Amino acid sequence: MQLLNLLDYEQAAAGILPGPTYEYYAGGVADNITVRDNRSAFDRLRLRPRVFRDVSQLSLATTVMGVPQTMPVLIAPAAMHKLAHPDGELATARAAKTHGITQVLSTLSTVAVEEVAAAGHSLWFQLYLFRDRGLSRTIIERAAAAGCQALVITVDVPVPGLRENLVRAGFNTPPELPFPNLMAPGETRSTWELFQTVTRNFDPGLTWGDIDWVRGITDLPIWVKGILRADDARRAADAGVAGIMVSNHGGRQLDTAVAAIDALPEIAEAVGDRVELLVDGGVRRGSDVLKALALGARGVMLGRPPLWGLAVDGEAGAAHVLQLLRDELANVMAQCGCAAIADIGPDLIAGRHSSSTGG
Ligand code: FNR
Repeated sequence: MQLLNLLDYEQAAAGILPGPTYEYYAGGVADNITVRDNRSAFDRLRLRPRVFRDVSQLSLATTVMGVPQTMPVLIAPAAMHKLAHPDGELATARAAKTHGITQVLSTLSTVAVEEVAAAGHSLWFQLYLFRDRGLSRTIIERAAAAGCQALVITVDVPVPGLRENLVRAGFNTPPELPFPNLMAPGETRSTWELFQTVTRNFDPGLTWGDIDWVRGITDLPIWVKGILRADDARRAADAGVAGIMVSNHGGRQLDTAVAAIDALPEIAEAVGDRVELLVDGGVRRGSDVLKALALGARGVMLGRPPLWGLAVDGEAGAAHVLQLLRDELANVMAQCGCAAIADIGPDLIAGRHSSSTGG
């Protein structure tokens, strides 16, 4: 089939991956309402293009937390890339390096953080703050020593979402899959035992005070991922985080949670310039990226699309997914009269502009 956009890649991957693996990647929780709404919320937003603005020289370059990015698109943390391709997160890191963008590596990656950090452009580490604080401390110290530039604490998993779809599909984590970030050197626990450890270790007792605990271990900048409300965003800013990822975990945690792009405006208004914002969930089109920036995000993250790229053609597939999105964003920016990322503003979204001009 022709692979002309990110949605084509999902279809192609669905034909390649075993059914239960596809379901693990694609599915959400309960009735998949938030998975669908993440997309339809972008589709509902309408653009107000500006004309005659000289877009002969386009630049998509920006920075996030001071880290140069050739486009405002980062790789979201997602567990188990090796289910899509034997090179796993290493292939994703190489694709991200080709594109000069940051990858956020999951605690549950299937390649060790040290190896991925050595291969990529810039690596941040996503942290589940486990009940076993000794394990969390070891993981934080390893990520810092490996050269990760930031820690991303996922805050939307006090308890794991109920994945009925995985029960129905008969998905089981393959016993040969490694979780090297959870293992001490020379450790021999099986995948099943490790997974039991993880499931038992999500900590429903976490509070904002735990950010201080992390800060006592590392001076890496801290982001929080999984904020959907202005009051929580303010508390995060008060807690001194460098940035906030507005996210509903790709619809994999709380079904009927608000679409991430719908939560973004109140959060952007609440925190202003105090912290940087990224948004993820349903970003599939160049126009989605522009809309997210117009509503106050510094950039977006992609969860599933790089996995579809890996499934289709490993590193090359993931790099092609990024190229397709880059080309679409360039096209949409030109048509909206934006020669640079800084030209993207709220006046581009219908119903959000405060005057008849803007920009
Ligand atoms: C995720 N996500 C995720 N988030 C996180 O903080 N830690 C993790 O280990 C994982 N694992 C994970 C696995 C898979 C297979 C998926 C699809 C997602 C959530 C991820 O970071 C991101 O928030 C969403 O995937 C974004 O939505 P889209 O782009 O997939 O629609």
